[in-house]
Amino acid sequence: MSKRTLVTSALPYANGPLHLGHLAGAYLPADFYVRYKRLKKEDIVFICGSDEHGVPITIAAEKEGVKPQDIVDRFHEMNKKTFEQFGIDFDYFGQTSSPVHHETSQDFFRTLNEKGVFKKKKETQLYDEKAEMFLPDRYVKGTCPHCSYSEAFGDQCEKCGTSLSPSDLIEPRSMVTGEKPVYKETEHWFLPLGDFQPDLEKWLNQTKNWKPNVMGQVKSWLNQGLGDRAVTRDLTWGVPVPVENADGKVLYVWFDAPIGYISATKEWAEQKGDPEAWEKYWRDKDSRLIHFIGKDNIVFHCIMFPAVLMSYDGYVLPENVPANEFLNLEGNKLSTSRGWAVWLHDYLNDFEPDLLRYVLGIGMPETRDADFSWKYFQDHVNGELADILGNFLNRTLSFTSQYFEGRVPPLKNPSDNDLAILKEIEMFKQDIEDRYEHFQFREAINKTMNLARLGNKYFTEMEPWHLRKNDMDRCGTVLHICCQISAALSVLFKPVIPDACQKLQKSLGIIEATWDRISSAMLEEGQAIEKGDILFHKIDNTAIEAQREKLEQQALTQEEQKPELPPIKNTVTFEDFSKLDLRVGEILSAEKMPKSDKLLKVTVDIGLEKRTIMAGIAAHVENPETLKGKKVTIVANLKPRKMMGIPSEGMILMAENPDGSLKFLSPNAENGSIVS
Ligand code: MF3
Ligand code: ZN
Repeated sequence: MSKRTLVTSALPYANGPLHLGHLAGAYLPADFYVRYKRLKKEDIVFICGSDEHGVPITIAAEKEGVKPQDIVDRFHEMNKKTFEQFGIDFDYFGQTSSPVHHETSQDFFRTLNEKGVFKKKKETQLYDEKAEMFLPDRYVKGTCPHCSYSEAFGDQCEKCGTSLSPSDLIEPRSMVTGEKPVYKETEHWFLPLGDFQPDLEKWLNQTKNWKPNVMGQVKSWLNQGLGDRAVTRDLTWGVPVPVENADGKVLYVWFDAPIGYISATKEWAEQKGDPEAWEKYWRDKDSRLIHFIGKDNIVFHCIMFPAVLMSYDGYVLPENVPANEFLNLEGNKLSTSRGWAVWLHDYLNDFEPDLLRYVLGIGMPETRDADFSWKYFQDHVNGELADILGNFLNRTLSFTSQYFEGRVPPLKNPSDNDLAILKEIEMFKQDIEDRYEHFQFREAINKTMNLARLGNKYFTEMEPWHLRKNDMDRCGTVLHICCQISAALSVLFKPVIPDACQKLQKSLGIIEATWDRISSAMLEEGQAIEKGDILFHKIDNTAIEAQREKLEQQALTQEEQKPELPPIKNTVTFEDFSKLDLRVGEILSAEKMPKSDKLLKVTVDIGLEKRTIMAGIAAHVENPETLKGKKVTIVANLKPRKMMGIPSEGMILMAENPDGSLKFLSPNAENGSIVS
């Protein structure tokens, strides 16, 4: 077995608060694993921090009119606190804007550059002439070449998931000014991943126990063949490229962020007064490195960062990257921009962290996408935490307090069945341990709950409330066994619901309980126990309704604030525009066309003459009579077109609201005036 393990969770971007999807993806599973390993007394360090570079950060700052550092500091503090409240027990939570990180990532770049690892290439990239800047990654939006989604980002289409380059976008537009960008030449450093393909394949082929969803994605990248990846950007926010003549260039966020794991480990070592300690975890071949991430991060952790570590030389490569799939919410994709998310700081106003840890744990998107709903939350809290685990513990502790003076009764003449139950405890321990070792947390948790099920069933079948009246010894034996099961559960469940287990251990008088102490004889005969409080309360329908309501409301408010406006069309020349003849007119009459739901026949006075215009607005006008006398703007030189047999001699301009309703453009001007 290895001497030590370093566990990392993906560094969350410090551009917003954390939601359910974050927790279920990269933080809870890591925390379960780390807590389990700490109970096993293994040497393990758990590292995370804020990812503070990249375009989403600067865009957030620009929107608010503040500095990027203000944004990242704010969300760093907020997210750090949220993690603490949820019991995500990092040894260190760093920031990639820290000086140690700047030095460490610059050292990586410099070293690789000196070794001649990078290729330097000139290319043309999208450039915003008005803002005088290049537009990497999320600074451009446009239409996805694969699925035609019009809001695709320069690095990825969120609709179909394809990763993109800004130049792949159809009709690109700048996120800074909305302008159509031009192409301009620039020079960048590239990591030629193709050169690493044989070594990467060799390394990946000897890895063991990788999840099929992860290996599948990695294989598909390798089958496509790896290309060059730019590791620098023309931006002002980020780690400056540490070589001559690189003004205005910073490291690509996906180059610097994973190095953040190393920087944070250095800061952790510094803080505990043993500055060299970081090195063993990263550079001793006996150390294990495990990255917990979401599936959108796979290529960076399984291909790009390992290539960087290999070329620096002397670093350990990840032993496993147990990436999770995505979590949906109430049947829909989580979306922060559409307000379809449960914010973790909000959740804490209403419920205990343990409840969510448990429910996300058993329903985690471990091998495929999963769905979280408030009903699911209620069902599992009530049906399992309260009715099975809580009920069993409460029955056992109350009965022991009440009828055995709060002391663990002796085990007298156990039956074969009793012994079999005691034996089960050890078997469950082995089985659960195996699940944790293989990153199968859903199964680990499910099996742990099964031990509580077993205990609950045993209690019911033995009917100690009858035994108490005629066979106190037998009754004591049953309660002894139930107390032992409770004690085992207090450790077995500790990685998942640490607060509840802490309270339970206090009631059971258990002090230092390691994983290895789990057995069928954890408690001594006569040991004092307390009844303790009810650990889990049921959640009623009203509370669940309130959460659903809140979610719907949040989504609605968000929609009002940010209507999905269609993108700006491509630029036209002034000559093109001046070909249009726009005029002010006044509606003389309007009538519904028989047999049409859409068309109104409208007569308009445009000063020089009267026009008959067929307008497709019937559905928006309740009573056409009321249009009489309304000022409108019309396109007066549109080629006439017959509609339902009547030539339409122009077009009435309308503004369409995001909700689809229509408004006339009504200038307060003489009929026939030119609009330009
Ligand atoms: N910030 C990234 C995300 O949220 C994850 C960065 S992980 C690291 O997708 F490896 F780069 F640190
Ligand atoms: Zn797409």
